[in-house]
Amino acid sequence: MPDRHRPVPSRIAVLVSGSGTNLQALLDRIGADAGFGGEVVVVGADRDGIAGLARAEQAGIPTVVQRLADHPDRPTWERALRADLERYRPDVVVLAGFMKILSGAFLAGWSGRVINTHPSLLPAFRGAHAVREVLEHGVKLTGSTVHLVDEEVDHGPIVAQRAVAVHPDDDEDRLHARIKAVEHALFPECVGWLCRGQLEVTGRTVNVRPDPHERTPTSPSPTDTPDGP
Ligand code: GRF
Repeated sequence: MPDRHRPVPSRIAVLVSGSGTNLQALLDRIGADAGFGGEVVVVGADRDGIAGLARAEQAGIPTVVQRLADHPDRPTWERALRADLERYRPDVVVLAGFMKILSGAFLAGWSGRVINTHPSLLPAFRGAHAVREVLEHGVKLTGSTVHLVDEEVDHGPIVAQRAVAVHPDDDEDRLHARIKAVEHALFPECVGWLCRGQLEVTGRTVNVRPDPHERTPTSPSPTDTPDGP
């Protein structure tokens, strides 16, 4: 295990709308990696009674809920959600199956620090029904995309992608389950890069810099020295 002397970990807010398996994958990853460089400080949702919130409560993480229906309009709802998150001073906002579109007004101040996972190979099949539309279209290869969030839906600079083959007998649930299995490894990896300041964005291109806090040996240890001739 590399010796990483990190500064203060990034404070992560996670937004969920459903089962929260990606939230769980992130929590598990953080729990297993002392050098992850981030900690989840709040989980927000746009609805009550979802498994995603139960997972947060189980992990002892504070939750906030703002339902659109409880507000006169979208901007008011967004301001309330944003204010709830801001109380926890997040450095990074993670959209883990959050099913509402967020405006530029919400994203302002967190530019380049909001990250989303989408179940298709973007830019193909944007939107809320990507897995179903992949099947309807007869696509043979789909996958998982992690991207930084901008004002357009499923559009911001792509951080990483993994392909998943579509099987002839797939239905939406089966295919989505295989995509999620890929997301559960890929998304926490990308969130870690963002938390550790490793993402370098130039226009639409994202490069991953080496982890500045990962200590690599400067000289080989005596046991690594090869035997002489
Ligand atoms: C994931 O497939 C994600 O790509 C999409 O919504 C799904 C959320 O799943 N945006 P879960 O709530 O994390 O289980």
